Amino acid sequence: MKTIAFFNNKGGVGKTTLVYHIAWMLAELGQRVLAADLDPQANLSSMFLEEERLEELKCKSSSAERNLSKWLCLLRKSMKRREDSSRRTKNSLSGTITN
Ligand SMILES: Nc1ncnc2c1ncn2[C@@H]1O[C@H](COP(=O)(O)OP(=O)(O)O)[C@@H](O)[C@H]1O
Ligand SMILES: [Mg+2]
Repeated sequence: MKTIAFFNNKGGVGKTTLVYHIAWMLAELGQRVLAADLDPQANLSSMFLEEERLEELKCKSSSAERNLSKWLCLLRKSMKRREDSSRRTKNSLSGTITN
């Protein structure tokens, strides 16, 4: 197994972006690639994963902030449900108007 680490003290210089592209390009070339995201901001994970999967993982986190993240998670889910429901209502209303 080969390990590649990207390091630069400065933020915002493209480390995460570069890791993401190198990872999928190596995978495309047939290598088995594991991208380890150790940044609590989870930007690399969010590049690879759909938002729903990311939320699922955040909900399962077992850090000291579990209670807080659980509440944030529930809040996000409930906000998303409300958005979906109002989008559905809007769509059905616009359907009614155009019909
Ligand atoms: N080659 C590039 N050209 C232009 N913008 C880039 C490039 N690489 C990264 N960026 C942008 O720069 C910002 C910081 O990149 P990021 O990969 O998050 O940096 P870091 O992980 O070093 O903090 C992001 O908005 C990203 O989209
Ligand atoms: Mg980064």
